Amino acid sequence: MAVSFKVNRPITIDQFTRLLESSTLGERRPIHDRECMEGMISNSNLIVSAWDGALLVGIARSVTDFHYACYLSDLAVHKSYQKSGIGKRLQSLTQEQLGPLCKLILIAAPAANSYYGQIGYTHNDRCWVLEPGVTIGN
Ligand SMILES: CC(C)(COP(=O)(O)OP(=O)(O)OC[C@H]1O[C@@H](n2cnc3c(N)ncnc32)[C@H](O)[C@@H]1OP(=O)(O)O)[C@@H](O)C(=O)NCCC(=O)NCCS
Repeated sequence: MAVSFKVNRPITIDQFTRLLESSTLGERRPIHDRECMEGMISNSNLIVSAWDGALLVGIARSVTDFHYACYLSDLAVHKSYQKSGIGKRLQSLTQEQLGPLCKLILIAAPAANSYYGQIGYTHNDRCWVLEPGVTIGN
């Protein structure tokens, strides 16, 4: 298996959808909402991808200002390629694109919650999420 890594190589909605399905992250992403999937891909400004030939086998999809904050929205590796270092490499390459003060921020999927602490992330219990449809109140 010779996997190559690319920064901001174009990815189609179908490639993205198939990868999410094959990694199990598809259960937690709107893979049947094509407009949303298209928006996720086209409005990301940092996508690191892993390829086995023409097959997309991993992705780290982020939205970032490159200086202060980078939100790593989707990290996924094809099931047949997991636990061989691809996830870590996708994150290292993401970090390499960022300035020295820029933090990587993410929300872990339940099945991956113990993954991030062991590779260097700090758990932050002051992270807050405003769910869609919830109006700001007091
Ligand atoms: C989580 C995920 C991205 C990790 O990518 P990966 O390429 O499999 O991970 P790596 O090979 O870089 O793993 C490095 C280490 O983390 C461990 N690890 C991998 N997945 C793990 C998980 N879900 N939970 C805990 N540890 C995990 C590996 O065993 C390895 O440990 P080692 O270095 O002691 O052998 C990948 O397994 C995946 O796509 N999972 C399904 C989708 C998902 O949950 N994505 C995360 C969304 S927040």
